[in-house]
Amino acid sequence: MARVLEGLEWVKVADISEIVPDMGLRVEIDEYPVAIWNIGGAFYATDDTCSHEEASLSEGDVWDGNIECPLHGSQFDPETGAAITLPAVLPIATFPIKIDGNDVYVGWRADR
Ligand code: FES
Repeated sequence: MARVLEGLEWVKVADISEIVPDMGLRVEIDEYPVAIWNIGGAFYATDDTCSHEEASLSEGDVWDGNIECPLHGSQFDPETGAAITLPAVLPIATFPIKIDGNDVYVGWRADR
């Protein structure tokens, strides 16, 4: 069930048991691909599509606490979305995430 708080709609995207540590889970919100992560016990929601080319980041790995693209190996900070290594230079988007019991929610703006 979604709730509206301060312009954000909290959209349930998964059960917490679906999120395997250090692996991405691809979900879609309004047909937009989002990757959900549990990295070192902290949860993150980011773009699933790499900022370099068309690759699904949830098919990549987590390396040293960062998201690693499966196609060319760029790494991204899961908290800020910053590109840390080449060839990507542009950041990926990050989204608010919260856990309520077993439910995982992403804060989403319908006008995105
Ligand atoms: S597509 Fe991700 S680094 Fe090239």
